[in-house]
Amino acid sequence: MGLPLVLFLPLVLLAGSGVLFIYRQVSGLWARSAVQNRVVVITDATSGLGKECSRLFHAGGARLVLCGRDWEKLEELCEALRGVADPSKTFPPRLVFLDLSDINCVQDVAKEVSDCYGCVDVLVNNASVKLKGPVQSLSLELDKEIMEANYFGPITLTKALLPGMLSRRTGQIVLVNTVQGRVGLPFRTAYAASKHAVLGFFDCLRAEVEEFDVAVSTVSPAFVRPAGPRPGTRDGPVRKLFFRKPAYGSHPADVAEEVMRVVRGKRPEVLLLDPLPRVALYVRTLLPDLFFAVTGRGVEDRPSAPRDG
Ligand SMILES: NC(=O)c1ccc[n+]([C@@H]2O[C@H](COP(=O)([O-])OP(=O)(O)OC[C@H]3O[C@@H](n4cnc5c(N)ncnc54)[C@H](OP(=O)(O)O)[C@@H]3O)[C@@H](O)[C@H]2O)c1
Repeated sequence: MGLPLVLFLPLVLLAGSGVLFIYRQVSGLWARSAVQNRVVVITDATSGLGKECSRLFHAGGARLVLCGRDWEKLEELCEALRGVADPSKTFPPRLVFLDLSDINCVQDVAKEVSDCYGCVDVLVNNASVKLKGPVQSLSLELDKEIMEANYFGPITLTKALLPGMLSRRTGQIVLVNTVQGRVGLPFRTAYAASKHAVLGFFDCLRAEVEEFDVAVSTVSPAFVRPAGPRPGTRDGPVRKLFFRKPAYGSHPADVAEEVMRVVRGKRPEVLLLDPLPRVALYVRTLLPDLFFAVTGRGVEDRPSAPRDG
């Protein structure tokens, strides 16, 4: 009786991981076909995640408008994209200069973005500035800068592009946020506040624009690893399941694929969390006193205030 069970369990796991693998491949292909010919705008297209999103959407045949504040990097990205994809199935990306910390230019940028193809189908608000440091070392000016880039930037661009989507009764706005938009950690005051604020805005917006068939989605990873080879990309599902060393955080390419799936499925919210941040989020929601007690204990290591994004 014992032996068949010993054999049965690996077989079930094998079959399960096989089905999961096939499902992910098929849903990835399906997601790609869903963006074909659609006008997709990506802010901070030159960041780790922005580049991966650009690569995926470009390969899927989207008409891309890539925004960034470093023109040279944008041009390099554009060249790289055009070099790898089949020109008969893709569109050359359009480039638009956008520095979200200069809020006054965003209205003009929105016009430039709209003029590229005459409309926008999907806006991916990916740009954001990170900041870490003890509160007393951060000036109010710095707090305002973070709020401008991470809150007023995306909402200004969204508000400028939204009327076009509402009048066409179609469109999707994706916010790339972070779990720090729901959980406050020490030394992240300005960053977490801006991410809470922007999440609140888009949660409210979702409810307001649904009746016009405009979808609002948020994708919140906990940690995105620096770009580099994906561990075990060439491994089969069984090898991945049993032998792959767990790596902390999500690879930008995996987050980009999730963004693509979110666009296809118009899912309202996706959290990409390793077990620890997932538990932290549950504890913050269900047992806030415990959460505050634990985070209060984790402040021995006081970092200075460098900007890291
Ligand atoms: N990295 C993570 O662990 C993590 C975790 C959760 C969520 N996210 C979210 O993922 C998204 C992409 O982040 P990422 O990690 O891929 O970025 P990243 O690779 O760390 O790159 C940071 C980007 O921010 C840009 N930047 C810095 N200061 C700026 C400013 N004042 N105005 C405009 N852009 C500025 C930089 O542009 P230049 O190259 O021109 O300097 C750079 O492209 C963000 O929304 C972030 O909140 C990231």
